[in-house]
Amino acid sequence: MGILDRHKVLEKNATLLLVASFAVVTVGGIVEIAPLFYLENTIEDVEGVRPYSPLELTGREIYIREGCYVCHSQMIRPMRDEVERYGHYSLAAESMYDHPFQWGSKRTGPDLARVGGRYSDEWHVDHLIDPQAVVPESVMPKYGFLADAEIEATYIQDLMKTHRLVGVPYTDEMIESAVADFEVQVDPLGDWDGLVERYPGAQVRNFDGQPELTEMDAMIAYLQMLGTLVDFSTFTPDASR
Ligand code: HEC
Repeated sequence: MGILDRHKVLEKNATLLLVASFAVVTVGGIVEIAPLFYLENTIEDVEGVRPYSPLELTGREIYIREGCYVCHSQMIRPMRDEVERYGHYSLAAESMYDHPFQWGSKRTGPDLARVGGRYSDEWHVDHLIDPQAVVPESVMPKYGFLADAEIEATYIQDLMKTHRLVGVPYTDEMIESAVADFEVQVDPLGDWDGLVERYPGAQVRNFDGQPELTEMDAMIAYLQMLGTLVDFSTFTPDASR
């Protein structure tokens, strides 16, 4: 009996075919899924990734509140056209402290995963106030009200504790200093050594150029750090995972 004839036996017997299919799918499933149970972590450790500073975290909350994700993804796919346009493809570790994550697949506007440092703070202020004044064909709504909305760090400690609950490694020290860290990030003349020690690479300046601390400051602090934590000039992917 040739191999095709033997296969014919299977094809002609529905029960046998079902049993054989089940066996094949089971073996395939075990081979694919079982190794995942033995991995401690599917996210590789990447140097530079840290939790958001209190002001950045607040900016992220406003980003979510305003639905920016409806038009902007935050995940650069590892394909050539994306990498050439946006920069190094996104690593899982870069969004490991994002709750909820902002990957998305809807791109009415460009991906923002690496928008940090691409434009000046003034550009962001002008663009958020009136996108069409900067990019005439833009369909992005105006967010000028962010510059009028003064904010205080009333809920920042609760917010950080909530993030800690879902696994973000905020320390007691970080939570104790949260209010001061929140305020000093827009005050280059203040004492921000502790802030930068707790959140390496945190950028300290008056983001919106106004004396008041506003939602615009928080939003721009967040946008300007997106995708900047990992130094890709020294990063090499760990091929063993
Ligand atoms: C209705 C869709 C829409 C929404 C909602 C939206 N945007 Fe945009 N955004 C766009 C489009 C389209 C562009 C490209 C044209 C431009 O630069 O304005 C853009 C561009 C941008 C850019 C420049 C990106 C680059 O690489 O040039 C930033 C930054 C940005 N948006 C931030 C935001 C933020 C922050 C929010 C929420 C407060 C937001 N957008 C909400 C559509 C949107």
